[in-house]
Amino acid sequence: MPHKLATIVMQRAEALAACSEEPEQLTRRSYTPALREAHRLVVGWMAAAGMAVREDAVGNLIGRYGAATPGGKTLIIGSHLDSVRDAGRYDGPLGVLVGLAAVESLHRRELRLPFAIDVIAFADEEGVRFGSSFFGSRAIAGTFDSSWLRLADADGMTLAEAMRAFGGDPAALATCAYRRDEVLGYLEVHIEQGPVLEAEGLPVGVVSAIAGATRANLHFRGVAGHAGTVPMQLRRDALCAAAEFILAAEALGRAANDPELVATVGQLSVRPGASNVVPGAASLSLDVRHQHDARREAAVAALREEAEAIAARRGLAFTWETLQATAATACSPRLRGALARAVAGAGYPVRDLCSGAGHDGIAMADLCEVAMLFVRCAGGISHNPAEAVEVADVAAAIAVVERMVEERVHEI
Ligand code: GLV
Ligand code: MN
Ligand code: MN
Repeated sequence: MPHKLATIVMQRAEALAACSEEPEQLTRRSYTPALREAHRLVVGWMAAAGMAVREDAVGNLIGRYGAATPGGKTLIIGSHLDSVRDAGRYDGPLGVLVGLAAVESLHRRELRLPFAIDVIAFADEEGVRFGSSFFGSRAIAGTFDSSWLRLADADGMTLAEAMRAFGGDPAALATCAYRRDEVLGYLEVHIEQGPVLEAEGLPVGVVSAIAGATRANLHFRGVAGHAGTVPMQLRRDALCAAAEFILAAEALGRAANDPELVATVGQLSVRPGASNVVPGAASLSLDVRHQHDARREAAVAALREEAEAIAARRGLAFTWETLQATAATACSPRLRGALARAVAGAGYPVRDLCSGAGHDGIAMADLCEVAMLFVRCAGGISHNPAEAVEVADVAAAIAVVERMVEERVHEI
C-alpha cells in the first residue's frame, strides 16, 4: 500500500510542478494565481481522501480527517506549497502529499483514529515574495504580527492586499489560531535538502533541531553619475560597497572555523541600473544561519558593523532592515521518540540529524510539540530544479507516518 500511494505522490508532485508563475521554470510564490491553481488540485485530493476542506483567513489550505469520536484532539501534519524561484518540485509539496497519502490510506481502510488529523498546506514558508516567512504557520500558532501586513513585494503590493486578492482576510487572522489544548502536536515530512542520508544509504532521518535564521535587507546609497566623466577617486559607487560587503559575508562564513555558520547574499538590486551610470543605490539581502543562536547573533552583529564601516569609508549612506530573526528550534523529545520508534518499526535504521533549512515547525513550536521526518534527496540538492527523490523513499516516509499515527497513538 505505501508503494502504490508513493507512486500517486510522485504523480501529484509532477502535477503541482506545472502550477507556476513562469512557463519555463517552477516559481510559485505565496498568494499568486499559481498557488491558487495548486490549491485547486490539492482541494480535490483532500476531498477524495475523506477530508473536510477549508481555507483560513491567512490563506492556509486545511484538510480535516475527523476523529473516531467527536471531541478528539488534533494532530497537525503540514508543509508548504509556495516555492523559491526556479524551484524543485519536492521542497514543501512532499510534506503535504505524504500527509495526505497517510490519510488516504486510513480512509481506504475506513479507519478513524482517536484524534483528528489536519493536513495543512501553509500559505508562505519560503518568504520569497515579502522577505519574511512563516505567515501561515504563525497565524495558526497565534503569533502573526500585524505589522507584517504592511510588507510590500517587488511590485509594491502589500501582504494585506495580496492576502485579500487571494481570498483571505487580513482583518480576521485571529480566527486562524488553534487552541493549545486542542492540538496534540505537529509533524512535518520534508526532503533533507542536504547530503547526509544519501551518503549513509538511509531513506529517512529524524530531525533533532532546526537552525535559527536572520534575514535582513541592506541599503547602500551613494551618488549616481556619468560613467564617462566622474573620475574614479570622486565616485560614491553604491554597488562597489555592496560588492565589498558580499565578499566580507563570504569571508566571515568561511573564516569563522565554524562549519555550521552560513551567510548568503541571494538578491541584489542596483539603481538606476544602466551600463553608463555609476550606481547610486544598491540593496541586497542577507541570510545568516546557525544551530546556536548566540553564534548567529554574533555573526549578524559583526556583519552589520562591517557594512557600516564599508559605507563610512566610501562616504555612503547606509541602512539596515532586519526582516526576520528566528531562534533555533528543538524538536520535541516525546514526538521525536515516537517518530524514531515508527522509523525502527518500519524496518529502517534511526538516524538523527539537524536541519540547516528553516521550516514551519519553527513557528508551530510556539503552539505545540513538533517533530520532523527527513527524506533522502539526490545529491542533497534543493532550491534547485534538480531536486529529486526516489519513489521507494517516499514509500518509506508514508510507511513511517502511517506507523506513527496508527501504532504510536498512545505516545502522540
Ligand atoms: C526555506 O527553505 C529556508 O530555509 O529558507
Ligand atoms: Mn521547505
Ligand atoms: Mn525551501
